Amino acid sequence: MRETVHVDLGDRSYDILIGEGLLAEAGAHIAPLLPRPRVAILTDETVAQAQLPALQAGLEAAGIASVALALPAGEATKGWPQFSRAVEWLLEQKIERRDVVVALGGGVIGDLAGFAAAVLRRGVRFVQVPTTLLAQVDSSVGGKTGINAPQGKNLIGAFHQPSLVLADTGALETLARRDFLAGYGEVVKYGLLGDAGFFDWLEGNAPAMAQGDRTARIAAVTRSCQMKADIVARDETEQGDRALLNLGHTFCHALEAATGYSDRLLHGEGVAIGCALAFELSARLGLCAQEDPSRVRAHLRDMGMKVDLADIPGDLPTAETLYDLMGQDKKVVDGEIRFILARGIGDAFVTKGAPRDMVVQVLQDQLSARH
Ligand code: GLY
Repeated sequence: MRETVHVDLGDRSYDILIGEGLLAEAGAHIAPLLPRPRVAILTDETVAQAQLPALQAGLEAAGIASVALALPAGEATKGWPQFSRAVEWLLEQKIERRDVVVALGGGVIGDLAGFAAAVLRRGVRFVQVPTTLLAQVDSSVGGKTGINAPQGKNLIGAFHQPSLVLADTGALETLARRDFLAGYGEVVKYGLLGDAGFFDWLEGNAPAMAQGDRTARIAAVTRSCQMKADIVARDETEQGDRALLNLGHTFCHALEAATGYSDRLLHGEGVAIGCALAFELSARLGLCAQEDPSRVRAHLRDMGMKVDLADIPGDLPTAETLYDLMGQDKKVVDGEIRFILARGIGDAFVTKGAPRDMVVQVLQDQLSARH
């Protein structure tokens, strides 16, 4: 089964292909982009072991030669040292202005390689080959590329759209369960922000998907990409609607900062907890029914995911400190923290701000439940 989602951005439009076996067919899909049969692949050491041979064989099958650089796996790679290493390696490999860079990996590699492509010779094209659920449904689509600064995550970067995305759902087979579920945090976000029917479908089908139901995986990745493609086509550079994709992220970024961007909390786990908190806050503000946050939490529990602050191991700072950490978010406008809140499941909207006391109270209640 093969699905195609089109991202409609004028002369920068591109397709996202979703299905099993796309690594093996990569050459046939990438060849039409190439003026000469040669690409440079950026990946990480873990993905290089699991997926690089299949990708290179798929390229060779279409007569495309490839060179590859495997960077260390992990978030620490997403900074200046590995970024400049990657850019200089691409120059050493004599990647020219019309050549194509291939990003094979999860969000770290996709963001770093996309940014490298954005600045190399003032911009070369690139193809995203995402190998994690999180990258397939979110980070590989939409053209946000970049690296982290000591001052915060993703603070250095550029909008640079890929020319093609190949989401081989077969690659998810080798993903650790925890990483799969973290990626699922971004999937459930789409249902919660804009498609109540999709959330209903996930309640029924996502447990089987986590157990390995391949058809359900393709359906979930496809629906997620369609929703993201629609939003990005409306608002590529996040002047408005694209901020909806940040549902749960304001809380998440504070929690990630509080846990030192460590293994205590993966990004997608923080997104899931953040979505539950955003619905709790929405209910307390009288925006949505009290049953909505309960339903969100029940589904996340069903999936065996982290649901609230009590599920994060180790100490957390006070509610006030967490609130202050939200103030560091790059989405703060004129000092106001922009929350994405909801009128119901599938009906999120962007606020200018929310009453500080209410936000602190929501966090405080969950922190108290930890003891
Ligand atoms: N991950 C949020 C966005 O692409 O806008």
